[in-house]
Amino acid sequence: MSDSLGWIGLGRMGDAMVTRLLKGGHPVMVWNRTRAKAEPLAALGATLAQSKLELAPLDIVFTMVSTTDDLKEILFAEGGLLTGPHKPKVIADSSSISQLGSAEIRERLEAMGVDFLCSPVSGNAKVAKAGKLLVVSSGPKAVYERVDPYLQVMARKVMWVGEGELSRIWKIAHNTMFGVIIQNLCEITVLAQKAGIPRHVFLESINDSVLGSMYTRYKTPVLCNLRFDQVTFTPQLLLKDMDLGMAAAKALGVAMPSAAATRESVARLVGRGQENVDFAVLLLETARDAGLELEAENVELSDGLES
Ligand SMILES: NC(=O)c1ccc[n+]([C@@H]2O[C@H](COP(=O)([O-])OP(=O)(O)OC[C@H]3O[C@@H](n4cnc5c(N)ncnc54)[C@H](OP(=O)(O)O)[C@@H]3O)[C@@H](O)[C@H]2O)c1
Repeated sequence: MSDSLGWIGLGRMGDAMVTRLLKGGHPVMVWNRTRAKAEPLAALGATLAQSKLELAPLDIVFTMVSTTDDLKEILFAEGGLLTGPHKPKVIADSSSISQLGSAEIRERLEAMGVDFLCSPVSGNAKVAKAGKLLVVSSGPKAVYERVDPYLQVMARKVMWVGEGELSRIWKIAHNTMFGVIIQNLCEITVLAQKAGIPRHVFLESINDSVLGSMYTRYKTPVLCNLRFDQVTFTPQLLLKDMDLGMAAAKALGVAMPSAAATRESVARLVGRGQENVDFAVLLLETARDAGLELEAENVELSDGLES
């Protein structure tokens, strides 16, 4: 593990993931569009780059930005990582982006002699901070094997699912289910509450049933206490992922009726101006549609993520 490392994109996820690398003893040079988000990492030993091009001579550069277009911008637009005389040996991207966009990026990178590993993740920033991410990679096996030791530092499990962009479709499928579950969890929680069962009681029973999961458990505190200002993932990012899911369904000829209905519900949430809030705010909208005004239950609950 002697590669020089760089990181671009220090939002909720990037910050949590690079923090694991730094705390694991790996020196990392970091860059973020909004520099203020990078500054606290200096205390953990990160080197703050003034420009993306400063990262170009490094061996491996990790990227974690919002969309396919954002990834293209940090790589290829003016001042982008790949626009100078030096090129990194490997780019390992964990953003949730489209298969098609990822394939285009791979083609451009490979033409420049740069290896590309797709390494999308399952888990939010708190999961990442606790070292409990799942990373699912695709791309050339040898490139995966080179990057794997660093991914291991950031995750509880790392997998390789094959060549090319296969892990992109894994992530799209994963987040389609992520959307459908929160949609249904909000619906049944409102149903139970309207019938008279407090949310924390109802969700405790679901969490302890055969249907409970790490996901239903870690969303339970926000669904009970309504702290949507504690953002893990935004409605905008969820809409992006539901759209990626519907586009993949169309391209592959797969009918996905529950995902289609959820996509419309999330689009309505975004259309109503729900920005910079946690996507679990879907609960409030679902309750309003049922003629119910919710109040915070202010109960102390564990999300099961303490490390
Ligand atoms: N949050 C989750 O639970 C979660 C879980 C798994 C996967 N993901 C995926 O991970 C990715 C990041 O999510 P996040 O929650 O960390 O989002 P976020 O907090 O909004 O962070 C987005 C990051 O991308 C940067 N960025 C966006 N557009 C850019 C551009 N055009 N040029 C340069 N930098 C740009 C942002 O820079 P600024 O700081 O300057 O805005 C920020 O560092 C998304 O693809 C998301 O779908 C999220």
